[in-house]
Amino acid sequence: MIVQNERGDLIFLNTKSASYVLWIDQWKCLHCLHFGGKIAGNVRYLGQTEFKSFSPTPPDILIEGVSPDLTANEYPDFGQGDFRSPAAVIRRKDGTSHSRFRYCSHEVFRGVPACEGLPHVRQTEGAETLTVRLADAISGVEIFLYYVVFEGLDVIVRHAEFYNPTAERVLLERAYSFSVDLAGTRRDILTLHGQHLGERMPVRRAVTRGRYTVSSARGASSHQDNPFLALLSPSCTEEEGECMGVTLLYSGSFALSVEEGQTGLLRLLGGINDENFRWRLEPGARFVTPQAVLAWSQRGLGALSRTFADLFRESVLPRRYAYARRPIVINNWEATYFDFTTDTLLPFIDEAAKLGADTFVLDDGWFGARNSDRAGLGDWFVNEEKLPGGLGALISRCKEHGMRFGLWIEPEMISRDSALFCAHPDWAVGREGERCESRHQYVLDFSRSEVRDEIFARIAALLRAYEISYIKWDMNRHITECCSAGLPAEGQGEFLHRYVLGVYEFARRLTEEFPNVLFEGCAGGGGRFDGGMLYYFPQIWTSDNTDAYDRTRIQYGTSIAYPLSAMSCHVSACPNHQTGRVTPLASRGLVASLGATGYELDPSKLTKEEREQIALQIRAYRAIEPLILRGDCYRLCDPFADNYFCMAVVAKDGAEAYVVGQQRLACADGQLRRVRIPGLRAETRYHIEELSLEAYGSTLMHAGLNLPLLGDFGSWCWHIRAAEEQ
Ligand code: DGJ
Repeated sequence: MIVQNERGDLIFLNTKSASYVLWIDQWKCLHCLHFGGKIAGNVRYLGQTEFKSFSPTPPDILIEGVSPDLTANEYPDFGQGDFRSPAAVIRRKDGTSHSRFRYCSHEVFRGVPACEGLPHVRQTEGAETLTVRLADAISGVEIFLYYVVFEGLDVIVRHAEFYNPTAERVLLERAYSFSVDLAGTRRDILTLHGQHLGERMPVRRAVTRGRYTVSSARGASSHQDNPFLALLSPSCTEEEGECMGVTLLYSGSFALSVEEGQTGLLRLLGGINDENFRWRLEPGARFVTPQAVLAWSQRGLGALSRTFADLFRESVLPRRYAYARRPIVINNWEATYFDFTTDTLLPFIDEAAKLGADTFVLDDGWFGARNSDRAGLGDWFVNEEKLPGGLGALISRCKEHGMRFGLWIEPEMISRDSALFCAHPDWAVGREGERCESRHQYVLDFSRSEVRDEIFARIAALLRAYEISYIKWDMNRHITECCSAGLPAEGQGEFLHRYVLGVYEFARRLTEEFPNVLFEGCAGGGGRFDGGMLYYFPQIWTSDNTDAYDRTRIQYGTSIAYPLSAMSCHVSACPNHQTGRVTPLASRGLVASLGATGYELDPSKLTKEEREQIALQIRAYRAIEPLILRGDCYRLCDPFADNYFCMAVVAKDGAEAYVVGQQRLACADGQLRRVRIPGLRAETRYHIEELSLEAYGSTLMHAGLNLPLLGDFGSWCWHIRAAEEQ
């Protein structure tokens, strides 16, 4: 997969159908000549440029007019002729920061690199890694660029590692994970934006001259901006055309930029957000950047999403859970909020069991003086006024019904009104008198090990004392006053990244010590939905917005970058608590079936018919769950552009498909609409259960099925199974 020419100056990273080609020129400058469809041979000519512009030549390049400003540079340096955005900025003791990165050596090894302390792609059969060592001719700092390729996937995973072999400290003021200069035609940028209750809405726009950045400075990847960016040829659609995308395995403040320069080359680069970032790299020390997953597709955005989904499931999600059936939870949050006791929860559990849910999750409000969101965070001790004798009675009742028990926590936070804050006011991020409150809470300084240790001890004690099989790990505010009492003045620029490293260390300890507990990520809904968290948590609460129509958009957008099985999707009561909208229960169930499904309502308030319907939904979900866990997702109707939403999940062998659709508003002037079902076998006959219809795969793939006409927010599903395999 990784091949080089005899001279050793051309390196081809060949994936399933793409090539990423590196070239080391006579001045030891490293260039990327191509990232796209597979190529071979002497392709050095791709590095030539006719431009002679207002562009300087560094002193070691002995031909006048040859300038890094004009070429496709891999991991560009700063202030020595390339005026585009640099991949790294290294400030030396004398205050200067220009750099000159030159190639030193490279090697190839089997397997994947270790990225200590950071989420990273797991050891995967057939994976190979290229390491290129660069040295900064000015500061002496060395940079190791890593490129991982996988068998059968059009993916390259990149990161950089800095090593300081000199006798003096340097400051890393930018240390991006990757940078690539892309040649070729015009492109559109696709990014995922939103806010609380409306995460990951796709936004597509044309690239024009200048720089475009998607970033978060919130200390979390955030609801507002996701660490994902795709570049599409302007004609690229869901199923046709060329595109590439990148997602970061990182959960903190990030930046991804695109810059079209004077030659038309497009620079794509990113990693840790460098606003408020400044890392001291001491003599002999290393700094590892988060990994960036780059994927490529020549068959549209849909294929790009399926590649990301495969990579996440195969190499990022916790192995134990990636393809495992997920608990169908019933969560009490929207049913009770903070208002519950053991006496009110026991009948809740009895009713939940009758529905067929297999895990009861006790949400916020079970600890400390937590009767509202104003108090108690940090006091991870059961509130015995609400739950006399602890959680035992609830867990026993769950067990009597053959159910499991799950619990909500928010380990990174502290309420001003808490025993923890009284004992350790300095453990909150920021300084007294300067701190912003958000949801009446502060952030705990997880960059400090003593803070993490104490919270770990409290949470681990609960997990040891009780039979808990599921934890929902929430995070309900972003970080302001970014500073730590544990860092010296000159180290404050390290805080935000050290915080994220602290979160990862905490998650690693918990998941390693309690491997039988399934951890679900959450951050006020989907405010930290990223590849970093997915390394520890196989699923994440997609959004606090459970409205069945809004969810079609949120889940559609999220599926562009992440697998369906990573999305936790619940059915809630109507009128919906976030939008006030009333949607049919069938619709809510079907939309929630496109992920790790569950319920978020009071079962005792359901009618007999609704209870029966939910019991059927749960049984139906178990039948299609293997498709959600392993299948290929196709987005068939775009709810942002259409009155319809429609998504298909198709088995990799084409034997089966599950299609869910929703019609937003009923139409009196019904027009014939069809969707084609991709991914089937042309010559196989399929049975479509709901339509009592048989059709060849070719018919379903090329002619399609008629969309039904339904009432407002009505949904439908089709189970399509190979007739001979039933
Ligand atoms: C935000 C979460 O997204 C909700 O599901 C719920 O757990 C609340 N926090 C509890 O405070």
